[in-house]
Amino acid sequence: MLDKIKGLMEEVEGATPSTIAQLEEFRLKYLSKKGAVAELFSEMKQASPEQKKDMGKFLNELKSKAEEKYLAIKSLLEDTVSESAAIDSTLPSAINIGSRHPISIIRNEIVDIFSRIGFTVSEGPEIEDDWHNFSALNFPEEHPARDMQDTFFLEKNPDIALRTHTSSVQVRVMESTPPPIRTISPGRVFRNEAISARAHCIFHQVEGLCIDEDISFADLKQTLLYFSREMFGKDTKIRLRPSYFPFTEPSAEMDISCTLCGGKGCNICKYSGWTEIMGCGMVDPNVLKNCGIDSEKYTGFAFGMGIERITMLKYQINDLRIYFENDIRFLNQFSGMI
Ligand code: PHE
Repeated sequence: MLDKIKGLMEEVEGATPSTIAQLEEFRLKYLSKKGAVAELFSEMKQASPEQKKDMGKFLNELKSKAEEKYLAIKSLLEDTVSESAAIDSTLPSAINIGSRHPISIIRNEIVDIFSRIGFTVSEGPEIEDDWHNFSALNFPEEHPARDMQDTFFLEKNPDIALRTHTSSVQVRVMESTPPPIRTISPGRVFRNEAISARAHCIFHQVEGLCIDEDISFADLKQTLLYFSREMFGKDTKIRLRPSYFPFTEPSAEMDISCTLCGGKGCNICKYSGWTEIMGCGMVDPNVLKNCGIDSEKYTGFAFGMGIERITMLKYQINDLRIYFENDIRFLNQFSGMI
């Protein structure tokens, strides 16, 4: 009988039930009321007290081995079952794919509109030197025009700053590319301003530059009218008001007819019918010279707009700060847009 127990022990050790059905078979064979272990216990009753001692020891060992194995495999199989129940491959996909940030959506749209009329995209560094951000653009040193854009300078080296506009990229393009040039430069810019609903220390711009022979103010005006109508609808009107920038002469600010009331007057346009969206002008000949372009032969226009502002008008957003808060409830509204 001891041999029988040892044989069963080997059997139990070697058994590998891997499904619920096989495990049940294992239980019935060894652990049920009519199973091998119970049978041996009842056979043991006929044995002598001497034999009983050894047999009892081995039989108990066999019993607990079989029970241990049963419980271990049972919990393993239950885990797998609940895991596979959690993944229902027949359900429609519920994966949240997120959404593009509204600033990126509008940046892409602006790039798209200008690329349709032959503008390329140029990029440059966000950390700039004085030459590319100011001096080449005709901001004389110590000139109060530099105060128009509150700048973050590097404390240890005031020649280095975070760019205040992407006009710096246009200087780089002019220095490295002979005309004709037709390019836009979208990017992040930085100004040392107090954060409020209308101003932020980080924002995004798209600036444009077109340089060739015989480029006139009429080309500028037509390009901006085309842009405004593509962006805000075919009935959009534009108007140009005289302004000042060191790098353009003449300079202007451009308004579009209010996107909400269409020009009739409402509280968004402060009852004027117009909203300002960008600065522009003819590139100052000094800037062309600074960048190695023959200002007798070539003329050009430039313009620059804030993407946050365009996005606010497009989606009727009234607080700049929301762009940087990463509030899922705000961002989710733009899902599915490219
Ligand atoms: N660089 C100007 C700004 O950041 C915008 C501008 C660009 C104005 C080009 C005129 C021409 O305010």
